[in-house]
Order: sequence, then structure tokens, then C-alpha cells
Amino acid sequence: MSKIRVAIVGCGVVSHSYIPQLLKSKHVELVAVCDNQVERAKKHAEDYHLPHYFGDVEQLLEEVDFELLVNLTSMNLHGPINKLALEKGRNVWCEKPIATDLSTAYELLEVAKKKGVGIWGAPFTLLSPAYQKMAALISSGELGKATTAHGIYGWEGPSWGKWFYKNGGGALFDLGVYNVTTLTGLLGPVKSVVAMAGAAIPERVVDGELTTVEADDNTAIILDHGDAVFSVIQTGFTYKNQLDDWTIQVIGTEGTVAMEGYDWEPRGVRVFTSKSGEWDTVAKDQEGYHWAGGATYIAECLAEGKEPAIYGEHAVHVLEIMIASLKSAETGRRIAIESTFPWSKERNAYATDSVSGRG
Ligand SMILES: NC(=O)c1ccc[n+]([C@@H]2O[C@H](COP(=O)([O-])OP(=O)(O)OC[C@H]3O[C@@H](n4cnc5c(N)ncnc54)[C@H](O)[C@@H]3O)[C@@H](O)[C@H]2O)c1
Repeated sequence: MSKIRVAIVGCGVVSHSYIPQLLKSKHVELVAVCDNQVERAKKHAEDYHLPHYFGDVEQLLEEVDFELLVNLTSMNLHGPINKLALEKGRNVWCEKPIATDLSTAYELLEVAKKKGVGIWGAPFTLLSPAYQKMAALISSGELGKATTAHGIYGWEGPSWGKWFYKNGGGALFDLGVYNVTTLTGLLGPVKSVVAMAGAAIPERVVDGELTTVEADDNTAIILDHGDAVFSVIQTGFTYKNQLDDWTIQVIGTEGTVAMEGYDWEPRGVRVFTSKSGEWDTVAKDQEGYHWAGGATYIAECLAEGKEPAIYGEHAVHVLEIMIASLKSAETGRRIAIESTFPWSKERNAYATDSVSGRG
């Protein structure tokens, strides 16, 4: 059985969710961790019995033999670190977004192609059984024409990491990204966007210090998927609480599907069709899916020589939508979207015969 050697850069909050997922897989050998606060990397190496730790990512890339880099650093560092790793011939799994500007994101796809490796990015929500069920119901035609969708996801916002509140951070990049990924997965690529965004809480305490909020903390966007199909997404660091009976809903001419829980942690799918005439709850079992299982899934695909069912191009499309949304909010204009990703109504359920990396 082949194993993929994996290294992690960024030993902050989210690494505690990723590492257990990676260690569970028979296809993963976690060989190194890296953080510029080197004591964090050292602690991880000790706690998880890992052979190598580093304080510098270039040194990690030079000195350790591995196939997949898992990038869990702050968002503004995703692009540059991903590029370094791809140039050194490593596959990359990156927390969202894969870069914070579009030209870097396109460059990452190009470098990956040139080097014969892959780049994939969170969120990994498209492979949850609940998402898959919604996609299958939409593509089966049981809902008629799916014309209308909503997504909402917010919380109070992190009390750590000032970068969350500076340019290149913000609620849309950190949270809205989930709903944008889910709704473009379900309804297809977007042609244009309009949005409103701002900082509703201009100052907040982060890492114990009063910090000025420069990025969006309260954002609303409307996505045009073409053929008069529209979705609406709201996201923010301003939500004390949120009812999560459903957070994603897709309405069609013959029925409706709604996701119980969040798209990153769904509990099931509620469905109504003209044919059944009643609401039913399906896809209640998430089969071990875990939102931090994306890197594990990619490692397993690499080990088994399988084409992953998620695409770097989709992550770039989502990034373009988010950048365009912030531009629309700033200028008051509707912004056209140029990128796309492999999608068709028939394929929107994605080809997931093996999603063992779900968790
Ligand atoms: N925290 C969560 O619950 C959560 C959930 C889902 C996704 N994410 C995403 O995960 C990523 C990381 O978030 P986090 O909450 O863990 O942030 P964090 O600030 O806790 O961790 C980031 C880590 O990166 C390290 N780092 C910074 N510069 C570095 C460099 N040049 N080289 C090596 N390491 C460096 C920092 O020292 C820190 O340990 C973000 O993209 C975030 O959006 C976080």
C-alpha cells in the first residue's frame, strides 16, 4: 500500500483539526511541521511524534523529501508559500483562499501544470454526503429548474490573528467562501456579481489589543449564474448567533432542498417535491465527513492514483467572485466574472466513487 509523505506549514488553530484527520489515514505519513514561530512547530513535533520541524518553509522544502504540502498559514501568505512549494515540485493543499489576488492564483495553476503537480484548496464541503445529495436531487430534475438559492454563515469572528481583520482577510474570504463554493458547485459558475460590504464593528480586541478593522466584517452578495438563476449569500463576523435549521437552500420550480446545519458541518438535507407533496429529511449520515479532511482526501487520491473530484479551477473561480464582490461593494457597480471551472448539470454531483478521505 502506497503512502504519501505530507508536511504542514502553519501550526496555528486550524492545524489541531487537520493533524488528527491526517494521522487517521493509512495512506498518510506526516513527516514534518513548520511555523515561523518555531516553538509551535517543535511542540507539534513532540506531541505528535513527528521526525522533523522547521521555522522556515524554504528550509523545509530543501531538506525534507515529501509529496504534499498542507498550507495552514494566514491568508495573505497562502499565495507566496503555495508558489514556492509548487516550484519545488510539491503538490499543495491550501486552506482557503489559495491566494488573495487573482494573478497569483492563475500563476499557481500554471506553475502546477508546468511542474506536473496539483493544487487544491479548501473548502472541501462539496464532498459531504449532504452536499452530494442536494447536487444529485438538483441534477435529477426532481426540483424542476433550480432558479433561486440562499446561503448564510457568520459568527462573532476570531479573537486571535489580526490578519483576519486586515486587507487580504475579512469575513467573505474567511467564511463566505464556504457558501460561494457550495452554491457555485450546486448551480454552476457565475457570470456577474453585485455586493455590499463594510466594517460594522470598526474596532475590536484581537490577541488582547484594540485593533482597527480594515477588511469587511458584514457582507451581502448576489450571484448571477445565467439563465435568470440567482443566489444570495450573507456572511459576517458580526453574528452573535444564527439559527442553523438550514443555512443553504435551493428552490426550484418543482421543489426545494435545504441543508440542515452548515455546509462545512452538515447534519442532513430537507427536501420537498411536487411529486411527494411533503417535506422529508434525507442524507442524515455524514459518513465520517469532516471539514478538515480535504488534505487527507487529496493524499489518498495521490496514493491511489485517482483524479480528485475537486478542482483548483473552482477555487480560482470562487476567489474571482469574492474579489469582484468587494470591488462591487466599493464601486457600486455590477462586476462581470471571467473565470469558470469544469461543471455541467449532469456532473454537478461530482464523481465521488471514493471519498475515503472524508474523515
Ligand atoms: N481557525 C479555524 O477554525 C479555521 C477554520 C477553517 C479554516 N481556517 C483557515 O486556516 C488558515 C489558518 O487559520 P488559523 O485560525 O489556524 O490561523 P492562526 O493564525 O492560528 O495560524 C496561522 C499560523 O501560521 C503561522 N505562520 C505565519 N507566517 C508563517 C510563515 N511565514 N511560515 C510558517 N508559518 C507561518 C503562524 O505563526 C500561525 O501559527 C486560514 O486560512 C483560515 O482562514 C481556520
